[in-house]
Amino acid sequence: MCGIVGYIGRHQAAPIILEGLERLEYRGYDSAGMAVFNGEKIQITKSIGRLKVLEELTHGGSTMQGVVGIGHTRWATHGVPSNENAHPHFNAEETITVVHNGIIENYLPLKEKMISKGYTFVSDTDTEVLAHLIDYYYKGNPLEAITKVMHRVQGSYALGILFADHPDEIFAVRKDSPLIVGQNEDGCFIASDVPAILKYTRKVYFIENQEVVRLRADHMHFYTVDEEEITKEAVTIDWDADAAEKGGYEHFMLKEMYEQPKTVTDTLMPRIKDNDIVIEELGMTDEEIQAIRKIHIVACGSAYHTGVTAKYIIEGIARIPVEVDVASEFRYRNPILEQGDMIVVISQSGETADTLAALRGTQKMGHKVLGIVNVVGSSIAREADNVMYTWAGPEIAVATTKAYSAQLIALYLLAMKFGKARGTLQAPAFCNMLEDLKRLPAQIEMLLSNKNRIQRFANRYIGAKDVFFIGRGIDYAISLEGSLKLKEISYIHSEAYAAGELKHGTISLIEQGTLVAAVATQDALFQKTLSNMVEVKARGAFVLAVTNEGNTEIEKAADYVIYIPRTNPYFTNSLAIIPLQLFGYYVAVGKGCDVDKPRNLAKSVTVE
Ligand code: G6P
Repeated sequence: MCGIVGYIGRHQAAPIILEGLERLEYRGYDSAGMAVFNGEKIQITKSIGRLKVLEELTHGGSTMQGVVGIGHTRWATHGVPSNENAHPHFNAEETITVVHNGIIENYLPLKEKMISKGYTFVSDTDTEVLAHLIDYYYKGNPLEAITKVMHRVQGSYALGILFADHPDEIFAVRKDSPLIVGQNEDGCFIASDVPAILKYTRKVYFIENQEVVRLRADHMHFYTVDEEEITKEAVTIDWDADAAEKGGYEHFMLKEMYEQPKTVTDTLMPRIKDNDIVIEELGMTDEEIQAIRKIHIVACGSAYHTGVTAKYIIEGIARIPVEVDVASEFRYRNPILEQGDMIVVISQSGETADTLAALRGTQKMGHKVLGIVNVVGSSIAREADNVMYTWAGPEIAVATTKAYSAQLIALYLLAMKFGKARGTLQAPAFCNMLEDLKRLPAQIEMLLSNKNRIQRFANRYIGAKDVFFIGRGIDYAISLEGSLKLKEISYIHSEAYAAGELKHGTISLIEQGTLVAAVATQDALFQKTLSNMVEVKARGAFVLAVTNEGNTEIEKAADYVIYIPRTNPYFTNSLAIIPLQLFGYYVAVGKGCDVDKPRNLAKSVTVE
């Protein structure tokens, strides 16, 4: 994970780098550092802790004078968070320095080799080996040394590299970790992600695997790993820069929760035309849809939870068997993929290492992959055979909310389209569902407006030790996400269970006052879930229920009820998740947690 930024141009580099790193802190935030060429030598400042510490240490960058520099915000993989392990890393003479996002898999044998050649190491990182290796191959031509190193290292990397004897240049390379470069009239930039430089330029180049960039103040050159110069097309980013700002909200997470009505509308409406669902980017005819034998959905984290929801919906509506896997399992379990199988990967960032590997593995087996992706131009978006974008805009808070909601919409649309094409979803039901979909944004807005009630309830649970979420069918999928939201930002232990599974062990964990959140939005399963609620209540649980308006019978078994507006049963996740997101958020705020940047987590998980 980690974020890298670099600048070379007419302005002071350090403040620009700090600002860029701030936008990338979602990628990691246990330590940070910068290297700036100050006219004589490369000066490095780094510190354990958040970027704020580095900002204070350098007085906003003013103690590091110079117009060329690189910076890094770290999410530790090799070696604990510490000053020594923070990037940038130097060679022994302090003439070459490197920032790195990714993992060098063969760093141990390389390190041994370098030690045998007399190199000494001051950190535990895999990155330091790169600084020494470049030094070892460097004979005055940076490009030659860098490409030699690229041929010798295995793993993933996006690198920014400075050479003291080439102070008017920055070098950057990429393999399997994201990297973009950008340019304006005053200079050139490198970054792990677009928001880091959006304030300065909208003209960016996406660097592909095994490409090298040489940046000067006024131009850039691109090369292959064989040192051949290549040309690349710039992409103009049309994101709203404000979308990556907090805009008056206390946290990005709250802001992003409030953006959900818009996110849902933006993902939905362009695909509804003349009372039909049109997904051009799917690239499939009705005949091809009819020929689908099975769908495999592969994703991580919350994206996986939307996949679990989709299984119930696609199987229910389109009668196509669906298998859902977490990507880290799928990629290594030798899955059985046959002719007619469709593979769908879901990812907000489009950079999750396991999801990307699953995509590549699947393609190697000769299958096409549909990517449901949020970040335009990300690795998964570029490598998938077809891409269906979720138009959620930049999501900054580590815990996803609006991208999750947008993924659900994309999956509903797919399920309905497949159902219609296969004749399992008839016209009247299809039209009613379309109307229900169009009502979702207003219904989400209404649920968000009840935030004060949820906040008051959440305040009672900031001291909770364990919380359990239960539900059946789609309500189980909602429970998985509700539980993850709570635990990842509030650090309260929570688990989600299929409600019927409760009595096979978990019920023994229920004590007097334990909070059990029961989700009961599926009318066909309502009585069954109600019985499970009664069971836990009888053992002392405090039961919070989320159910549809009108289901007042639930008050017999629940201590506190949140009603959601009526919608098609397949779409209740979009509504029931809102109070659960708010609950997790307010518990974490009440506990004083760092909501947008929970400990040990990162938004873009580019290591496996
Ligand atoms: C991290 C994030 C989650 C996200 C998961 C998958 O764990 O914190 O919010 O669901 O990665 O990420 P992706 O970008 O592939 O959706």
